[in-house]
Amino acid sequence: SLRRSTTGASSTHLLRRFYSSDSAPERKVAVLGAAGGIGQPLALLMKLNPLVSKLSLYDIAATPGVAADISHINTRSEVNGYMGEDQLGKALEGCDIVIIPAGVPRKPGMNRDDLFNINAGIVKSLCTAIAKYCPHALVNMISNPVNSTVPIAAEVFKKAGTYDEKKLFGVTMLDVVRAKTFYAEKAKVPVEGVNVPVVGGHAGITILPLFSQATPQANNLSYEDIEALTKRTQDGGTEVVVAKAGMGSATLSMAYAGAIFADACLKGLNGVPDVVECSFVQSCITELPFFASKVRLGKNGVEEVLDLGPLSDYEKQGLESLKPELKSSIEKGIKFVTES
Ligand code: NAD
Ligand code: LMR
Repeated sequence: SLRRSTTGASSTHLLRRFYSSDSAPERKVAVLGAAGGIGQPLALLMKLNPLVSKLSLYDIAATPGVAADISHINTRSEVNGYMGEDQLGKALEGCDIVIIPAGVPRKPGMNRDDLFNINAGIVKSLCTAIAKYCPHALVNMISNPVNSTVPIAAEVFKKAGTYDEKKLFGVTMLDVVRAKTFYAEKAKVPVEGVNVPVVGGHAGITILPLFSQATPQANNLSYEDIEALTKRTQDGGTEVVVAKAGMGSATLSMAYAGAIFADACLKGLNGVPDVVECSFVQSCITELPFFASKVRLGKNGVEEVLDLGPLSDYEKQGLESLKPELKSSIEKGIKFVTES
């Protein structure tokens, strides 16, 4: 109604004022694992986000230094560092969004499921604390294997009686970021305008980019090109793990993807309309209980899980092939909590 009752020029002005940082609501964001390879650049990018008013940096080591360093940047948010479990409650209190890149990364020769034994326990204990100290926060899960850590988080929240399926997100944004980059390069279109949905999960063949829905549409790509693009997107993580040769997995591109996704969540919380990104969430669009697809973000988190839309035959095949692996990774996560 505000928009309708004003002229074009001043309504633009009002909207800009409404979304500018000085009138943006207070938002506290925590990064758990903030001293890590992803955590540090992610903390930096979140410090640059004018929608954040408090930035809470938690890790089991080295957070005082990271927090002191980042706190000198002259942007809106107040930065605080917290170290060790006895400070976790303070780090989480009052959070609107908790981003979790805590846990060990892959080395060459490992798959993401090889990280389960260590990371499942880390995620379980962090989520237990979230249920206690900020049960209403949106959770952005980055720790691998995402196909299992998201179900683990859901079960921990269910046990605590705080589960809200609208507030739990597996971060699959890096798959989207990669698909956009690889597609733009192959189709020879400017990367800034490219969009590619990526659905399914976040490991190997469970990552299903939908190049048939990519925009702008490219008519210069063959079936073989699409196959190669799909494979490269699915193996994007491994490409980085191999290139880093034992020094870990993607950190900088992941920090970028995590920051973009958290920004979308913040915009949704703040009531910005039509914020849609892909994420691994509780879902009814296939027979699997969790699935990545386009999600509309709103004031309570997930506002709508969008369905898959029309798929090519190649994508339909990919969808059927990924289901058994994704199903068993989800079940493994659920069992980790329910049978302990
Ligand atoms: P890293 O080893 O550089 O950093 C991990 C950090 O987590 C360390 O600082 C460590 O101290 C901290 N940590 C460990 N246990 C903790 C606990 N209980 N509480 C708080 N912090 C704890 O690893 P990284 O490269 O930053 O990767 C982190 C995770 O993110 C890995 O599991 C990796 O596989 C995953 N990852 C996911 C994606 C994705 O697309 N979702 C992309 C890249 C990496
Ligand atoms: C990625 O996709 O880069 C991450 O999941 C890290 C990994 O192990 O590949």
